[in-house]
Amino acid sequence: MEFDFSKYNPKERYKLLSSTVIPRPIALVSTVDEDGTLNAAPFSFFNVFAEDPATCVLGLARRDDGTYNDTCRIIREGGEFVINMVDMDLAEGMNIAAIDFAPEVDEFEMGGFTPVASRLVKPPRIAESPVSFECRRTVTLQLSASRDLVVGEILTMHVRDGLFDPEKLYLDQSQYDVVGRLYADQYAPLKDIFKLKRWQPDEWLKAEGKK
Ligand SMILES: Cc1cc2nc3c(=O)[nH]c(=O)nc-3n(C[C@H](O)[C@H](O)[C@H](O)COP(=O)(O)O)c2cc1C
Repeated sequence: MEFDFSKYNPKERYKLLSSTVIPRPIALVSTVDEDGTLNAAPFSFFNVFAEDPATCVLGLARRDDGTYNDTCRIIREGGEFVINMVDMDLAEGMNIAAIDFAPEVDEFEMGGFTPVASRLVKPPRIAESPVSFECRRTVTLQLSASRDLVVGEILTMHVRDGLFDPEKLYLDQSQYDVVGRLYADQYAPLKDIFKLKRWQPDEWLKAEGKK
């Protein structure tokens, strides 16, 4: 069976893409409006794409009436945002932050988030998040009338104490209860982790008896 994307509308393509490219990480993005109102919303069209420079990308849709959501509008205006990773304890609050509140509503208060001042950008991070990245927009790609891809540079990273070995920079996976998004209202924890060895070419060929 083939789904030729030219024959499907955006909502149908969304179904096909978002149910198959799973799990997606969730960026709970904090921003601050010009009048100081705190804003937070989750985005799962999100990932990191480079470490030199450290780069993240967010896919931000317009609302059905064509207006920008608050996150998109504020990033367009100020260019600064914080990505807070979502763990099990933060999942309920993240879901509340996804409600399309009016711009003047403090979504930190709605979601039960504690703001902590960032060091390099204006928006605060969320104290309850295990990992937060302070980011500045590098460029926004306007792919269509309804879709912005915000490419951002990650300037600095805050992690919950005990999550990382500060010398070796190893993450203690057992302490990182991060949640992935599946489709619609479905989410998944990280579990059943397994390892795959990274091979050198000669090593693999020898092991397989091909050399
Ligand atoms: C888990 C989850 C992931 C989401 N991912 C996206 C996304 O990638 N892009 C997007 O435009 N909206 C996404 N949304 C919807 C926004 O979070 C929602 O429109 C929110 O109200 C925007 O808030 P804001 O106006 O404060 O920016 C997602 C919602 C949820 C619950």
